[in-house]
Amino acid sequence: MEKKEVAKTSEAEIAVHWKEEDLYYPSTKFIAQANLTDESVYDRFSLENFPECFKEYADLLDWYKYWDTTLDTSDAPCWKWFVGGKINACYNCVDRHLEKNKNKTAIHWVPELENERIQHLTYQELYVRVNEFAALLQDFAGLKAGDRVTLHLPMVAELPITMLACARLGIIHSEVFGGFSGNSCADRIVDSGSNVLITIDGYYRGGKLLDHKANADIAVEKAEKDGQTVDKVLIWQRYPGKNSSPTPMVDGRDYFVNDLLKDYRGKRIDPVPMPADAPLFLMYTSGTTGKPKGCQHSTGGYLAYVTGTSKYIQDIHPEDVYWCMADIGWITGHSYIVYGPLALCASSVIFEGVPTYPDPGRAWRIAEELDVNIFHTAPTAIRALRKVGPDEPAKYNYHFKHMTTVGEPIEPEVWKWYYNVVGKGEAVIVDTWWQTENGGFLCSTVPGMKAMKPGSAGPGVPGIHPIIYDDDGNVVPAGARKAGNICIQNPWPGQFQTIWGDRDRFVSTYFARYCKNEKSKDWRDWPYLAGDAAMLADDGYYRILGRIDDVINVSGHRLGTKELESASLDVIEVAEAAVVPVADEIRGMVPDLYVSLKPGYDPSPELAAKISQSLCDSIGKIARPRKVWIVPDMPKTRSGKIMRRILAAISNNKDVGDTMTLANPDIVDDIKKISQDMIEELKESKKALMKE
Ligand code: WT7
Repeated sequence: MEKKEVAKTSEAEIAVHWKEEDLYYPSTKFIAQANLTDESVYDRFSLENFPECFKEYADLLDWYKYWDTTLDTSDAPCWKWFVGGKINACYNCVDRHLEKNKNKTAIHWVPELENERIQHLTYQELYVRVNEFAALLQDFAGLKAGDRVTLHLPMVAELPITMLACARLGIIHSEVFGGFSGNSCADRIVDSGSNVLITIDGYYRGGKLLDHKANADIAVEKAEKDGQTVDKVLIWQRYPGKNSSPTPMVDGRDYFVNDLLKDYRGKRIDPVPMPADAPLFLMYTSGTTGKPKGCQHSTGGYLAYVTGTSKYIQDIHPEDVYWCMADIGWITGHSYIVYGPLALCASSVIFEGVPTYPDPGRAWRIAEELDVNIFHTAPTAIRALRKVGPDEPAKYNYHFKHMTTVGEPIEPEVWKWYYNVVGKGEAVIVDTWWQTENGGFLCSTVPGMKAMKPGSAGPGVPGIHPIIYDDDGNVVPAGARKAGNICIQNPWPGQFQTIWGDRDRFVSTYFARYCKNEKSKDWRDWPYLAGDAAMLADDGYYRILGRIDDVINVSGHRLGTKELESASLDVIEVAEAAVVPVADEIRGMVPDLYVSLKPGYDPSPELAAKISQSLCDSIGKIARPRKVWIVPDMPKTRSGKIMRRILAAISNNKDVGDTMTLANPDIVDDIKKISQDMIEELKESKKALMKE
């Protein structure tokens, strides 16, 4: 029962106190140019027309061969879309645009340093670079369709170039967020069975040139220990022709891509026609157990879905300048920086750095210089920008027609600042709810058709039919003012196919809860459990309240509490660990870590710092706890379970409630006393967190 107790102190608690908000309407100017204003779309994508309705999305793409079966359910619930179809994702994002648009900018790459000019890659240039690198992957690295390759790249143009080169050959890419540690990268190398790692020597973040090559050494070494050999490390250079990392190269293993590319100048590689249901990439995400899940996304279904939603929900037109500030190392970047926008022949902005560095005007100067008109980011970034520079946007001459928020619930106050100040009252906002597993948006308003409601994502997007169940499997109806578990009734083409190498976990995590008949091959029997609590208002708008499992949403990204706890147990002094979510002004949620020590060890600030660092080393800086509490013992039930609910209440300055059922009720006061002593220290560590 512990799981639910943690959830009670998560976002849900804050959110249910929100009142119903007023509606905001899109301007006639926006509606006049919108890609979708035809109400009949909801009929066309109704359950009666399922699954054939999704042909409309697939027809946005070029196919070598049309499919025979739109939705194959024979291996339920591992759905297969557009079976029999042949398609290449790289061809659709690059080659097909050359005839009419080769001279158009595909990618605006914005280096963090403002004295380095923005680079504008045309579709032709992207085509050339992708082809040459694909030739290298094939001939030098010996990679072929179906092989997995791990990428550990930051926000540089070489990241989409690498992804597209893989896609051209049917190689399954698995990009690990650049900010993740070498150790995290190793786990993903091992799980995916990659024998090639593609990385970069260094990159800029917050004004510092980081040594990224060092992470590759850690990753390869750990992967080797865990049974996966990496024979080749391909290293892009932040400054082509120059080494920006002090970490030595390993002979016979490490290669600078720019040296090798000389042999591939002018090479062209035909795109490989891939089966629509062949995997395109893996994207790892956290779950309730320690081991990250490799979400396996398909080629045809995924690309159709992100292209359709980019067109109709992001409202991208070929002439738009579109800036999604997410990192390509997360699913948002894959779907809505790279694949969706490029399939639509848009110009997509990639920004290397931190939007508040070197000052709060940085993001808005980029928007002004490039004349960005579609802007896409997360509440955590909006909160940070609002905090450091609430009046900055007005100083810059940019105009957005459309803005997106994604990743966590947005507080109505923050939404209104986004709308009035960032959007200058001129831009529509879509609040898009979805997950790594889903490929693309699940709930959102269609921007030219529906009113906006601050704090609510909106109805299911066309073709997505959500439903809320209570714990007993009863449907929670619209307007019930009660939260429940949000599920999706039907499959959709963007949905992941399985967890890489772990079909059982796929079925048990997402489908077992509300499955009506385990033997059934009918999709109607397999509602998809998203793992979020949600409420449905009378008007059909969903408000997402937060996770129902042991997952903490930090800055819009999921960290498994078990993952953090097991990382802290790597420190030899630590006997037990418990992680709880704490509400944070900027990052939404942050983890607090409680540990008790093995006999013979004493608490000290140095030990707390060491434990905190160990989380950063094994997962990445995003996992840094707000506070490490070294406590004499954990509050436990009589059966010995750690009561995270009580720890969460202490961390969040809430009433701990009834403690009499504990085996050791006195410990609660001891922990509270420790909390008093630490208040000053906490203020300090919060300042440090803000800087990161
Ligand atoms: C979890 C998924 C998919 C984009 C990035 C995050 C939360 C996501 C919203 C939203 C409220 C949201 C959910 C979800 N979430 N978007 N618009 N409103 N909550 O992907 O790391 O897989 O996290 O983020 O809790 O389950 P992710």
